[in-house]
Amino acid sequence: MSMITRLVSSPLALLALAGTFLLAGCERPPVESIQHGYRGTGMVLVYNPRTLERQVPLNQPPASTPPAPTEGPKAKDAFQNVKVLGDLSVAEFTRHMNAISQWIAPKEGCAYCHNLQNLADDSKYTKVVARRMIQMTQHINADWKTHVAGTGVTCYTCHRGQPVPQEVWFTPVPQDLKANFIGDRAGQNIAAVNIGLTSLPEDPYTPFLKEDKPIRVTGSVHLPNDNPSSIKQAEYTYALMFHMTQSLGVNCTFCHNTHSFQTWDSAPTQRVTAWHGIRMVRDLNNAYLEGLTPTFPKNRLGPQGDVAKVFCATCHQGAYKPVYGAQMAKDYAGLMLAAPASKGAALPAPTDEPRHSVLYFGVGNATLEGAQAKGLAQLIATMSAAPKTTAIIAGYHSASGELAANQELAKQRAFSVRDALLAAGIAEKRVTLEKPAKAEANLSGEDPAARRVEVSLK
Ligand code: HEC
Ligand code: HEC
Ligand code: HEC
Ligand code: HEC
Repeated sequence: MSMITRLVSSPLALLALAGTFLLAGCERPPVESIQHGYRGTGMVLVYNPRTLERQVPLNQPPASTPPAPTEGPKAKDAFQNVKVLGDLSVAEFTRHMNAISQWIAPKEGCAYCHNLQNLADDSKYTKVVARRMIQMTQHINADWKTHVAGTGVTCYTCHRGQPVPQEVWFTPVPQDLKANFIGDRAGQNIAAVNIGLTSLPEDPYTPFLKEDKPIRVTGSVHLPNDNPSSIKQAEYTYALMFHMTQSLGVNCTFCHNTHSFQTWDSAPTQRVTAWHGIRMVRDLNNAYLEGLTPTFPKNRLGPQGDVAKVFCATCHQGAYKPVYGAQMAKDYAGLMLAAPASKGAALPAPTDEPRHSVLYFGVGNATLEGAQAKGLAQLIATMSAAPKTTAIIAGYHSASGELAANQELAKQRAFSVRDALLAAGIAEKRVTLEKPAKAEANLSGEDPAARRVEVSLK
């Protein structure tokens, strides 16, 4: 009798064997756990060393070449059709082209984007896409420091030596209700891998990473009647949370203090970074990738004819920081520039206007003078150039003096900025007044930095 039949012949052993199969869906030990909060708070992160083993080689940065001389003629003078990287020296420009080839198409090299008979020619769609991608990368590094900090991104962060990044998403095909006896799945119940094989909705990306549906489901009061969120909304939220956890190779406790998923003040700072990340991803999908849809050939588009889009996994690929936080971008000046205004008619305008302005006032004063008046003019110019932006205005005051009078002054300051915008022809519905968000900003004595109006553009 073989070993296995002898074992199975005993009922106890049979149970043990059945148990092994039942547990096969769980993670096999050993796993490692790391404390991520104060002792006793249960803020433990559990890592599977075997998953880590697969992730580590995926997230190694390629070697960087030493910087080239920045003197000498500029690329825009030496070449014919350079619209974005023109201010680099010819040597630096060439070094960027070499790096881009390594990051995107190491096998095909320059020919992946260029007609080698004429490098200035834009006939290959890959070159047109690449130009827009350079602008997108500059925009991420210049305007999304709230997420990417000084680390920034390069083409490698998403591409890793491939023309199409490993991790992208498309709009799913809607369920064909005519050919289905099961009934309407309502976008869920198929145990998709991206949501941890659960029955949650399988496309949390469209509502949260393209549209801006609210990701808030927890009620703020004890009684159930006051929470307007539906169970389905909660399921969508959890599906997104699954995606975020898997993309970063972490647990929920990386961002949440699980005594309350809702509160921000007791959550790890990573949650705030993630919050900005969600907004950044929306911005990239809408302002850059969507606009490239007609540029791509059909075979690059999804089943619904939509362009490949970015989510957390596109950059992170299983690591808490992409490429484990390697500082690659700082070696490439061309990717760190603020995106210049678009010169090519074919390029959709980059959206890199300042998102937040602060205007300072004198003591006891509600009119803007000197450099501050210039700041106001800039704000007006920005809003006029981007007719879809709206401004939220909040007035602040310093702590010295009498509170009621100060509050009135803060209000007058906010009014004077609003009135200036309206006087410049900005429509009234684009301007909203709001109470200052941070109360502590009002507590610091006679502080010139406190006498201000903050304007957020959306
Ligand atoms: C992933 C796409 C891509 C690859 C690969 C690539 N380039 Fe480029 N190249 C571009 C883009 C985009 C521009 C335009 C940049 C701009 O407008 O600022 C450009 C412009 C140029 C120009 C300027 C041509 C002119 O007269 O306007 C030269 C020269 C050049 N590349 C050389 C190279 C070389 C050499 C290689 C291979 C080592 C290479 N490129 C690989 C995308 C690419
Ligand atoms: C935030 C992630 C991200 C970054 C950073 C990024 N890309 Fe892309 N790139 C994408 C996505 C998503 C696509 C669409 C995939 C497809 O081609 O279907 C794409 C497509 C491309 C394509 C078209 C490839 C093809 O064969 O269809 C080129 C070329 C390209 N990128 C070049 C670049 C260059 C050059 C940089 C750096 C300056 C860069 N990308 C940075 C996400 C990124
Ligand atoms: C990388 C950080 C991160 C991870 C990991 C993460 N979350 Fe979140 N979570 C957030 C952020 C950020 C928000 C708020 C999103 C917003 O408002 O745009 C949020 C919101 C939520 C909410 C809604 C709270 C409310 O106010 O209604 C719940 C519930 C939640 N997460 C549960 C989870 C669960 C369960 C996990 C693990 C499966 C998880 N999260 C993993 C960052 C994270
Ligand atoms: C364009 C590339 C890119 C995309 C897309 C992206 N991230 Fe990040 N993320 C980064 C970079 C780069 C860093 C490292 C910043 C640093 O060094 O502090 C980072 C850092 C983080 C951190 C902080 C980690 C820590 O230990 O401090 C969190 C949390 C995070 N990302 C969550 C997300 C979530 C959630 C999404 C999707 C909604 C997302 N990221 C999408 C590039 C990206």
